[in-house]
Amino acid sequence: MKKDLVSIKDLTAKEIKEIFDLTDKLKKDAQKYSRTLSGNSLALIFQKPSNRTRVSFQVGMYQLGGYSLYLAPQEINLGVRESIRDVAKTLSRYVQAIVFRTFEHKNVTELARAADIPVINALSDFEHPCQALADIYTVREKLKRLKGLTLAFVGDGNNVCNSLLYAAAKVGLNMHVGSPAGYTPDSAVVGEAKAIARTKQAEVKVFDNPTDAVRGAHVVYTDVWTSMGQEKEAQERKKIFREFQINKNLARLAHPKALIMHCLPAHRGEEITDEMMDSPNSVIFDQAENRMHVQKAILIKLLK
Ligand code: CP
Ligand code: NVA
Repeated sequence: MKKDLVSIKDLTAKEIKEIFDLTDKLKKDAQKYSRTLSGNSLALIFQKPSNRTRVSFQVGMYQLGGYSLYLAPQEINLGVRESIRDVAKTLSRYVQAIVFRTFEHKNVTELARAADIPVINALSDFEHPCQALADIYTVREKLKRLKGLTLAFVGDGNNVCNSLLYAAAKVGLNMHVGSPAGYTPDSAVVGEAKAIARTKQAEVKVFDNPTDAVRGAHVVYTDVWTSMGQEKEAQERKKIFREFQINKNLARLAHPKALIMHCLPAHRGEEITDEMMDSPNSVIFDQAENRMHVQKAILIKLLK
């Protein structure tokens, strides 16, 4: 049966470990995998802009010997020119997998349900699973373990935060979230993550301030205050999130060697200072690079 990656919840802890172990191998010996997906084609349907996700999937597919094609919003005109279901059915006859970036999460579930081939969520308003996998992989790569460590996510309880909550819980990494009241992650997601974490002797805690979230953390993570599609709220959000900036004073409360992470794109001077972005503890661009290596592993796992 075909397998999708719509949500981190689609993966077991064992599958996540397998993806990470394969990523290690891909990073050590990329040449060995240069024909692994030869003859395979990947369609990327994007309804929002992208740098990392698009480039890392297209280059990653090329490095595996496969082909990829990018379908911009105006080309497919999804749901307007034709239905999601008909797009899924048609592309299933041409390509071996679809990478899909959209607004409403239900679009991804609908595409996955209708497609006869694997569908990978490349960001919806609810989850960003490829991002979270690359992030947790980066923590494992840098700190050599996950259990017993704490990742503090400071900012909006958004798509990236949701996927990190599920992923951290699955691998037994503790997670603290610090968000302003009204912007904490979805309570159902927090409840599910807490339940999964409990089975791994890990903890999920949500705070309404950044300091309690960051205190003692081994990883300090943030994302933009205004996600794609929320542009109208940008000015209001700048005021609401002002105290939630990752800066030297906040980072001082974390573990002295705490990794600084951001999924990018960053708004320097808003959710994170230049100083933190460019600090020796920042692994932000390694994190961006790892998107490609981890996604190569995901493609192999779903297509082979
Ligand atoms: N982090 C991330 O997904 O970046 P893009 O929006 O540039 O793809
Ligand atoms: N939360 C951000 C992530 C961008 C990669 C957004 O959805 O725009």
